[in-house]
Amino acid sequence: MLTVFPKLGSAFTVIMQVRQNGAMSQSANQDRLTFWANEAANLHWHKSPTKTLDWSAAPFAKWFDDGKINASFNCLDRHVNAGLGDRIALYFEGEPGDTATYTYRELTAAVKRAANALVALGIGEGDRVAIYMPHIAEAIIAMQAVARIGAIHSVVFGGFSAESLRSRIQDAGAKLVITADGGFRKGKATALKPAVDEALADNHCPTVEHVLVVRRTSQPVDTHPRDVEWADAMAAAEAEHVAHGFDAENPLFILYTSGTTGKPKGILHTTGGYLAQVASSHRTVFDLKPESDVYWCTADVGWITGHSYVAYGPLANGASQVIYEGTPDTPDHGRWWQIIEKYRVSILYTAPTAIRSFMKLGRAIPDGYDLTSLRVLGSVGEPINPEAHNWYGSVIGGERAPIVDTWWQTETGAIMISPLPFITKTKAGSAQTPMPGISIAILDEAGNEVGREQAGLLVITEPWPSMLRGIWGDPVRFRDTYWSQFDGKYFAGDGAKYDKDGDIWLLGRVDDVMNVSGHRLSTAEIESALVSHRWVAEAAVVGAADETTGQAVVAFVILRQDEIHDAGADHEISKILRDHVAHEIGPIAKPRQIMVVSELPKTRSGKIMRRLLRDVAESRPIGDVTTLADSSVMGAIGEKLAGGATD
Ligand code: PRX
Repeated sequence: MLTVFPKLGSAFTVIMQVRQNGAMSQSANQDRLTFWANEAANLHWHKSPTKTLDWSAAPFAKWFDDGKINASFNCLDRHVNAGLGDRIALYFEGEPGDTATYTYRELTAAVKRAANALVALGIGEGDRVAIYMPHIAEAIIAMQAVARIGAIHSVVFGGFSAESLRSRIQDAGAKLVITADGGFRKGKATALKPAVDEALADNHCPTVEHVLVVRRTSQPVDTHPRDVEWADAMAAAEAEHVAHGFDAENPLFILYTSGTTGKPKGILHTTGGYLAQVASSHRTVFDLKPESDVYWCTADVGWITGHSYVAYGPLANGASQVIYEGTPDTPDHGRWWQIIEKYRVSILYTAPTAIRSFMKLGRAIPDGYDLTSLRVLGSVGEPINPEAHNWYGSVIGGERAPIVDTWWQTETGAIMISPLPFITKTKAGSAQTPMPGISIAILDEAGNEVGREQAGLLVITEPWPSMLRGIWGDPVRFRDTYWSQFDGKYFAGDGAKYDKDGDIWLLGRVDDVMNVSGHRLSTAEIESALVSHRWVAEAAVVGAADETTGQAVVAFVILRQDEIHDAGADHEISKILRDHVAHEIGPIAKPRQIMVVSELPKTRSGKIMRRLLRDVAESRPIGDVTTLADSSVMGAIGEKLAGGATD
C-alpha cells in the first residue's frame, strides 16, 4: 500500500512515501488524521470539531462529526470579515461578450439576498433544490445560497434533456427548481426553461412547488403559476442574512453520475469534510496564491469539477476566478486564449479533450495571444496522452508552467492523485502520486497488491474527508458498487499501474462506463434510451477510441422487423435513433455511429461481448470468438457492415 502524507509541520514540501505490506501502522494513521484535522482547522467553524473520523459504521463515514459549519460563510463572509471584500471573486464573461465582475463583498451580498429569497419560497434545512442553469454567475450564487440555508442542491447539467432532468428531480424529491430562460452557446440563445416545463408537465414531479427563473437571454417563455422571476425574488428579499452553523455531516449536495446500470446514481456529499478537502487540494495542486493568481477552471457547474473547483474550492480559498459561459469556438477559435490574455489568467484547469481539439487547429491561434501570465496548468477527466501533454506544456505553458494531471471522480469529491507543481518532476501521461493524506493501492482481482509495471485495479484504502457519503436513497447500491469487491476498501472502477519509479498511471475504466470528452456515460443508460424507441429490439453500446474525445459512443442495434416498415434506409434510421438518444439523455450521449445489425455477439450465458463489438467499432481484426454462443455472428456483422450499413 502506498500511503502519502506530509511530515507534520512541514506543509507539502516533504512528502513521505511509506511502502508497507499489510495494514498501515498506527502512527501513519494518526499522522493522516492529524493532517486532515489541521486542514479542517483552516476553515471557519461555528463550533470546532473535537472528532476527526468516525469509521465505526463503515462504509458510512463521518468526518468532523461534532463540528458545526456553514459552507457559504466560509466561501464568502469570512473573506469580507478578513478585509478582503474588495478582492474580485468572479470575472464573468458571457459568450456574447457581456461581462460582470463580483467582488467578495458583492458576491456575499448577492448570496445573502438569494438565501432570503429561498427562505421566502419555503426552502429550509434538508430540502432539495434542483439547479438547471447555464454557466453564469447566478448558478454559483444559487448553489451558495442553497448551501447557506442548509438545503441540498442537485445541479443538473444544462445539456441534459427534460427526461434526464425529470428523473433527477423525482429521485431527489426536489421542492424547487432554479433555472434560466436559456443561455448562450455557439453564438445562439439556447433554451432551458421549456425543458423544465416538459420535465414537470402532467404532474410528473409533484414535489416541486416553485420554479425560480433567471432571465439570461430575454427569450419568450411560457409561464406557470409556480414560476417566480429571479429578479423579483431578489428585489423583494432582505439584504442581510446571518449564516448559521450546520452539522459537519449535513448534506451539501447530490450530483448524479452514470454507473454501470441504466439509472444514474445520486452521489451524496456532506459539508465539513468536503469543504476541508476541496479547499486544501485546490491550494496545493495549483500552488494557489490567492492575492495574486487569476484562476480559471473551464468546467461547467453541472459537473463535479464545476462544484469542487469552481463553486467551492476557489471561493473557500478567497481566489479570483474567471467563469466563461460559452464554447471555445465562439466567435472564433481564439476565444479561450483571448480570455486568458484579457484577465491575465495564471492557473488554467481543463480537460484533455479541449487540448486535443485545439491541437488539431494548430499553434498559430494561441500563438497570436499573450499567454505569459499562465504559471500552472491542470488536466482532469480522462488520461492525457503524451502528445497533448507536450503541446499543452509548450504551446500554452511556454515550457514554463508545470502540468498537473489530476485523477479523481464525482465520488471522491476532490483530487486524489496528482503531481504537486514545482515539487514533483512531472511525467507526461501519469497522475503520479497520491495527494497528501490519501492512501492508494493497486490490486489484482484477488485483492493482492500488484508489482510495478503490472496493471491492476485502483483502490482507496483509507477513508478521506470529501468521500461520498452514499448514493441518495440507495445504501445497498452504495455498498455493492464501491465496497464489495475488496472488503473495506473503495473500488474506483479504474485500472491503474505503477511504473518502475512507483508513479501511478491510470488505464481507463474497467467497467461499462465510458468517458467521452471527459464526461462519464453509461453503456446501459444509452442502451435503454435506444430500446425505448419502438423500432429497436435490442441494443449494445461500446466506447470506441476517438482521437479527439478520448472515447466515442458507438451503438449496435437490432431492429424490430414488425415496426420498421415505415423506417427508411439504415442511415436514416441511424439519424433518427441518434436524435432519439439526444432527446432522451442529452446531446452529450448521442452516439457517433449507430450500426444496424441482425445479431449481437453473446456468450452462452447471454452476456453481450462488448470486447468484440469494440474491435468492430475501432476497425480492428476481431479477437477470440470461441466463447460465443454462435460463432458465426461476428462474420454476419462484418458482412453487413461491409455492405455499408453504418451511419
Ligand atoms: O476514469 C476516471 C476518469 O474519470 C472518471 C471519473 O469521472 P467523473 O466522476 O465524471 O469525474 C470527472 C472529473 C473528476 C474516473 O473514474 N478520470 C478522471 N480524471 C482522470 C481520469 N482518468 C485518467 N486520468 C485522469 N486525470
